[in-house]
Amino acid sequence: MVDVIVGAQGGDEGKGKISAYLSLNDNYDYCVKVGGPNAGHTVFFNGKIFPLKSIPAGFVNPKTKLVLTAGSYIITEWFLKEVKETDTEDRIIIDPNCVVITQEQINEERNNTHLMANIGSVGTGLGIAIRDRIERKKIKFAKDVPELRKFVKPVYEILHSAIVKGKKVLIEGTQGFKLSLLHGEYPYVTSRDTTASTFLAETGLGPKYVSDVYSVLKPYVSRVGPGPLEKEITDPKELEKYHTQGREIGSVSKRLRRIGEFEFENVRKAIIINSATKIAITHFDIICTQKFKNIKEIKEKKAKDFIKIISKLSKTYPYPKLALISVGPDTKDIIDLR
Ligand code: IMP
Ligand code: MG
Repeated sequence: MVDVIVGAQGGDEGKGKISAYLSLNDNYDYCVKVGGPNAGHTVFFNGKIFPLKSIPAGFVNPKTKLVLTAGSYIITEWFLKEVKETDTEDRIIIDPNCVVITQEQINEERNNTHLMANIGSVGTGLGIAIRDRIERKKIKFAKDVPELRKFVKPVYEILHSAIVKGKKVLIEGTQGFKLSLLHGEYPYVTSRDTTASTFLAETGLGPKYVSDVYSVLKPYVSRVGPGPLEKEITDPKELEKYHTQGREIGSVSKRLRRIGEFEFENVRKAIIINSATKIAITHFDIICTQKFKNIKEIKEKKAKDFIKIISKLSKTYPYPKLALISVGPDTKDIIDLR
């Protein structure tokens, strides 16, 4: 069985947090990270903060094996540092075709003024590495790097035989729907598609195995770089709450994220294209100060109104159900409605 986590907005919806919670609570045997090191996530666990760019957030469950795919891109030095910090050396599996981004590719991206200034690229070399792969240039794969060789294993065989035995796989998608190269707000997008089908293809799994697609969203939208935000919030006083309590600072880029009001149509489109079956709300504490166990107990107007918006979204086939609400930064700060 395979579940997939996707971002329904402009990235940084808190997919890492949802992945960490699900790995712990639902005991996935494998947690998969696709995409590149431009997608960072911060995991708050056991009183520690882990800023990750290479390792899936599911590392918090010591029984979960951690997988990087043929559609994953890593920077060797960053990856090895995170392996050490998370003490996960014996649980990592890397596909031989996982791409290792070179210093030349990083330099080229950082010197590309179009990407850096106009698109707002994070500067991790991901876009250049993907371009080089498409041009069929000589690139570096995980299997070519001596320090990585011990992690390199046939991911498709391992996951396939695990699925046959009834084991559980969680795919942690990267970025958000607005940043999809195919369906997002071109040209203000990343260098890959960011929807569930692509995450499966990158992992090497077909669509038949999927049970649930978790669409992760916030009660507002953030964007690290330039590009559309329907109703951008520009009042510095109002923005401060998002940048402090909401921690809306780029985890890789360190830029203050731009903030906009919730975009209904964009999320509806994301639900359709991802075939989302479950909705996970994060950063709910930004609009709700009261404690609650059930959504019926919610009294605060902003929070109540937002839950109504979500019920409207749930009327879109395949009728995603509100499943999880994140009410604080720690991995365990979750109201589980499943
Ligand atoms: P690139 O993927 O680094 O080329 O960046 C392209 C655009 O996507 C820029 O606006 C980035 O800020 C944005 N972006 C890339 N990765 C992330 C992410 O993980 N979270 C949020 N925005 C991202
Ligand atoms: Mg992020």
